[in-house]
Amino acid sequence: MKAIFERVSVRRFEDKAVEPEKIEKILRAGMAGPSGGNQRPWEFYVVRDRNTIDALAGASPYAGCVRNANTVIVPCFRTSGLIYPELTDMDMSACVENMLIEITALGLGGVWLSIAPYEDRMRKTDEILGLNDDLRSFALIPVGYPAATPVPHDRYEESRVHEI
Ligand SMILES: Cc1cc2nc3c(=O)[nH]c(=O)nc-3n(C[C@H](O)[C@H](O)[C@H](O)COP(=O)(O)O)c2cc1C
Repeated sequence: MKAIFERVSVRRFEDKAVEPEKIEKILRAGMAGPSGGNQRPWEFYVVRDRNTIDALAGASPYAGCVRNANTVIVPCFRTSGLIYPELTDMDMSACVENMLIEITALGLGGVWLSIAPYEDRMRKTDEILGLNDDLRSFALIPVGYPAATPVPHDRYEESRVHEI
């Protein structure tokens, strides 16, 4: 629970590789997420290749910070064989949030960079990863040891709560 409130977007990282065991824990957290009908539409690309990371930085006008990371996780989703395809974005969002919380709990930092639902960003990312039509990119998550961690804010607003 602590990690939920400590999570902040981290966009600058130390030049230190993230241990493969930690990457596996992050992926486990993502795959532990809920999904409509338990359809689990996800597939994950773990990108450590420098040229590919630099190319991903150009996939969205707001993804330049991936260049600061040594590892980028790209959650993708299947486009066929799903029971509830209309729930895919929600499934993927729960999965990404789980990963961000686990990243924080492991003492690492990361940020959700949107690719879906923007068709141009998705097309560029799919092409960089060499995806076929059965798989589409959802987001970019650069992961690393934080070089600077912003201070988390308490965003609780009682006025947003409506009791009946
Ligand atoms: C759906 C979604 C898309 C986002 N896309 C981007 C993005 O493209 N680039 C970026 O730098 N941050 C992106 N963010 C991070 C937000 O800017 C960040 O979560 C927000 O400012 C709140 O700050 P915090 O994460 O530190 O609490 C995204 C966050 C979400 C949830």
